[in-house]
Amino acid sequence: MDYQAVLEEVADRARPLVRQGRVADYIPALECVSPDRFGIALTDLNGETYGVGDWEVPFSVQSISKAFSLALVLAQEDQSIWERVGREPSGTAFNSLVQLEWEQGIPRNPFLNSGALVVTDRLQTLTGDASTALLDFLREESGNPELSFDQAVAGSEAEHGDRNAALAHFMASFGNLENPVPSVIEHYFWQCSIEMSCRDLATAGGFLARHGLRADGTRLLHARDAKRMNAVMLTCGTYDAAGEFAYRVGLPAKSGVGGGIVAVVPGRCTLCVWSPGLDARGNSVAGAAALDHFTTLTGWSVF
Ligand code: DON
Repeated sequence: MDYQAVLEEVADRARPLVRQGRVADYIPALECVSPDRFGIALTDLNGETYGVGDWEVPFSVQSISKAFSLALVLAQEDQSIWERVGREPSGTAFNSLVQLEWEQGIPRNPFLNSGALVVTDRLQTLTGDASTALLDFLREESGNPELSFDQAVAGSEAEHGDRNAALAHFMASFGNLENPVPSVIEHYFWQCSIEMSCRDLATAGGFLARHGLRADGTRLLHARDAKRMNAVMLTCGTYDAAGEFAYRVGLPAKSGVGGGIVAVVPGRCTLCVWSPGLDARGNSVAGAAALDHFTTLTGWSVF
């Protein structure tokens, strides 16, 4: 497969959609990003990375960080996180509160904000500094020691963080947080503010295509956990659009309101696409279209 040629064709087809959708504005610092951006990268099983467009421009990873914090927890301890967070799609928005009361403070899945707060809480217990542990992990896995937090985004998110604080307090009232709410939400905001490019994210997510192995052959996750992560990404990684995304693209994926989407073709490659214009459910319009074109052109969906 000529990856570079495929990515160029995908980019040509997706570019007309680039200005569609709306750049996230509920975190004011995200609003400043140009809606014209588009990049796509692919990392193969050997760790070779190809890319087109703005594939080396850093952007705010936002909810894509949730996949990596889950991987880091699963890499550090066996299955105990699953006692505190479920594995079912929610059908509700990523920041919804409504199911938490019915379900006794146990979030439906680790990719909702509530579920990710539980994962960050666990990482805080395991490492003593969840956001720094995640940044170090991403530097290591991406091979880019320059990765950093975006202080303006983290601050902006904290200033407008009432919804996440409410989710955390509500879960704490059910005994589903181990650390104080202010510390959990602070680490969560820092983790979402990490800036990475498509190149960094595709490289860092390579283990998901390699059944848990890094490009150098060392093991990050048990193959069973890589399979499980891909399953939860397929069913829950794009929130209440997960059914539509599976229908169109047919790949495990994790999106973020910065406009990035990481997608995995197990046994073949990991992709990351970025374009800031979002649809009503918080997924990149041109990004989803690009992945749709990718699986159509290559025939590489999981179905
Ligand atoms: O907590 C928030 O609302 C954001 N930091 C992350 C949300 C997000 O990226 C959801 N993605 N589609």
